[in-house]
Amino acid sequence: MNVVVLRLGHRYARDKRLSTHVALTARAFGASEVVFDAPDTEVRKSIEAVNRAWGGVFTVSWTGNWKKYVKDFPGDVIHLTMYGLHVNLAIDGIRKSSSDKLVVIGSQKVPAEMYQLADFNIAVGSQPHSEVAALAVFLDRLFETRELDMDFNGLKKIVPQARGKKIV
Ligand SMILES: C[S@@+](CC[C@H](N)C(=O)[O-])C[C@H]1O[C@@H](n2cnc3c(N)ncnc32)[C@H](O)[C@@H]1O
Repeated sequence: MNVVVLRLGHRYARDKRLSTHVALTARAFGASEVVFDAPDTEVRKSIEAVNRAWGGVFTVSWTGNWKKYVKDFPGDVIHLTMYGLHVNLAIDGIRKSSSDKLVVIGSQKVPAEMYQLADFNIAVGSQPHSEVAALAVFLDRLFETRELDMDFNGLKKIVPQARGKKIV
């Protein structure tokens, strides 16, 4: 099952740090690609540098037509929103299908049409928080924690330590 993250409402420059965190989180928690609704070569360059050092083939791309991208996606579309169905109640149903997943997150106000285009509108608790937090929790539930043990086969690898840092 391939997982792609679509972030809506990306504003170049202003959102660079948060968008980089969205991409890093998607990469570390098992997605294969992040798609923005506006070009951002800076975020792409930072993630390519992370791939070179820490491994994996995670990609950053963008679309000029997010509605078409969502409609054409060959798999299940999951929109993360605090107004959706509670993730704890919905996750088993989502996991039942082995189809690829498009996980959509917003930044500020998400266009109303997104709620209709989604196969699932899912809330990670019914309180407002952050797209990065919602994405991390959702992917962790989707992969049932297995994503944290993925081998990225990178040039650098951390050896977990009780204290201090060890990189081989
Ligand atoms: C600044 S929040 C805006 C909150 C927004 N009113 C909403 O619909 O969730 C930006 C993004 O974070 C995600 N988000 C925030 N809280 C969430 C929650 N409790 N459950 C799922 N996603 C959430 C959504 O993807 C949202 O578009």
